[in-house]
Amino acid sequence: MTVLTHSYFKLVSIFIRSHFISEAMARLVRREANGPMEIKVGNSSKWICMCGLSKNQPYCDGSHRTTLDEEEGKVYVYNSDGTRTEVNG
Ligand code: FES
Repeated sequence: MTVLTHSYFKLVSIFIRSHFISEAMARLVRREANGPMEIKVGNSSKWICMCGLSKNQPYCDGSHRTTLDEEEGKVYVYNSDGTRTEVNG
């Protein structure tokens, strides 16, 4: 678990958001995590998306639940409409 100060967390959050918003090109990024990472900010917790599916980046929105029935050794592509396709890894 990583502990960050509130101001440092806001700075990192702004950087991550501006990075994702400024990029208009499409790409595939391989992610293997199927759950969020907890970051302590003062006395509260922030949950950072590690699966790549959240529509509220960089925060977890629960979308990682759709990955829980993935089969080991297989690779999936998730579409913006929430469907997924198995591809050769
Ligand atoms: S970890 Fe990605 S939505 Fe929860």
